[in-house]
Amino acid sequence: MEAHERVAICPGSFDPLTLGHVDIIRRAARHFDRVVVSVLQNREKTPLFVVPERLDLIRATFEEDPRVEAAAFSGLLVEWAREVGATAIVRGIRAVSDFEYEFQMALMNRRLAPEVETVFLTPAEEYSYVSSRLIKEIASLGGDIEGLVPAPVAERLAARFPIPSVRS
Ligand code: PNS
Repeated sequence: MEAHERVAICPGSFDPLTLGHVDIIRRAARHFDRVVVSVLQNREKTPLFVVPERLDLIRATFEEDPRVEAAAFSGLLVEWAREVGATAIVRGIRAVSDFEYEFQMALMNRRLAPEVETVFLTPAEEYSYVSSRLIKEIASLGGDIEGLVPAPVAERLAARFPIPSVRS
C-alpha cells in the first residue's frame, strides 16, 4: 500500500454478487483509491458458491476497474481492515430495515477500531429490493434474474440451475 492511498473495504458474503453490490462498490470506488471487496470465509454452512468462486465472480465483474480487488478474510472485520490499511468500511443500506443491524455493527466496529470509519452508501433505487438470498431462491426455482446480477454471475447461476427442457 502506498502511504497516501485511501483504501476502503466492502465486506460481505457475496453469495453471489448482485448488481446492488456492484452499484455500491462502484460508488465506493469513486471516493477511494482502492476498494477491497472482502468475502467472509466460513460463515454459511451451505453456501451456493464456495469462496474462491465468489472471488472469481467479483474479479470477472470488475476486471476493467483497477481500483477494485477481491480478497477473502476470516476473523474480525476491523483486524482485516487494519491488515489491508483500510480507513473505511463501506456498507450499503437499501432500506430502513437494513439500518438497525448496520448501525449496531458500525458502533461495535468503532468501539473495536476507532480509527476505521464505517461509511454507508445507498444503491440506485432499482436495486433497493435485490438481495443474494432472493437471487438464489429465484434462480433455483427457474425464475428470471436478468438485470439483477452481473453477467458472470448470471452465467454461473444458469450452469448451476439449468432450466429443464419442456417436453410435449
Ligand atoms: O453480507 P453480510 O452477510 O451482511 O456481511 C456481514 C459481515 C461480513 C460484514 C459481518 O458478518 C462481519 O463483519 N463479520 C466478520 C466478523 C466480525 O467482525 N464481527 C463483528 C462485527 S461488529
